[in-house]
Amino acid sequence: MEITSQVRPVGLLGRPVAHSKSPQMMNAAFQHRNLPYVYLAFDVEKERMADAVVGMASLGFQGFNVTIPYKVAVMDYLDEVEEAAQAIGAVNTVVRQENRWVGTNTDGEGYLRSLSDETGFNPRGEAVTIVGAGGAARAVGYALARAGAASIAIVNRTPAKADELAHRLSRWTKAEGIAPARLGEAIARSSLVVQTTSIGMHPHVDDTPIKKELLHAGLLVSDLIYHPRETRLLREAKEAGILIHEGLGMLVHQAALAFERWTGREAPVESMRQRLEESLD
Ligand code: ATR
Repeated sequence: MEITSQVRPVGLLGRPVAHSKSPQMMNAAFQHRNLPYVYLAFDVEKERMADAVVGMASLGFQGFNVTIPYKVAVMDYLDEVEEAAQAIGAVNTVVRQENRWVGTNTDGEGYLRSLSDETGFNPRGEAVTIVGAGGAARAVGYALARAGAASIAIVNRTPAKADELAHRLSRWTKAEGIAPARLGEAIARSSLVVQTTSIGMHPHVDDTPIKKELLHAGLLVSDLIYHPRETRLLREAKEAGILIHEGLGMLVHQAALAFERWTGREAPVESMRQRLEESLD
């Protein structure tokens, strides 16, 4: 698609943004659908965030993504923050709606879509264990709770954070912080375990937060790490004949949902995934 005067900007605000794969994925999507948008990454200083958001409105931005370290701070500059972003406590996508900035969070729904697309798993009525209690765990926990998970056990190195997340989720489901020593018990009762910590991430590929002895048939093992695509946890689960779910899909689908909010069109998920895979090679 040619860059003409009709092209509308969208983008990413963060610091740093140099390693983000979003520009490749989003621009591939716009090109695939032949839509007149361009996606740019902006490395913004903290003191300049307010100016940046006001400036984007002046320049006709249809929306933008937000990444570290501004996912919470950006809320101060928005006109509305939707339930998902409030519940998760972070904004990753902002949409221009009737001359207002509306903040949302597509991570949780992106996770659910990926889970459903790639494994067919439906959380309704299921018992789930989440390992970790950071930002990613909040997004996944919120989505699973809203999708009707019967119970969510949260296991974290720092137990107080697990309790805090359980408290947040207790509005929608039976949620409980569990001591790390009781991880095995929680997993034994679960049909889905979601690994949300950085354990097993490149270059520490020999680490796993869940020993293979704790895995069982009838469990779906989901790991949010996408570099490497197959973590030790996923490899060991696969070797034991247990169904797995890779982390890459969540990244694709959270972007696809932002694309859909900005353009009103269905996202070309497969071409986004392909472009992301190429950019990770
Ligand atoms: P993200 O946005 O990716 O979720 P985060 O908010 O920094 O990142 O959360 C990181 C999560 O990984 C936390 O649950 C963290 O545990 P603590 O709350 O105890 O810090 C967990 N984590 C990171 N490194 C870990 C390690 N070496 N062992 C156990 N847990 C770890």
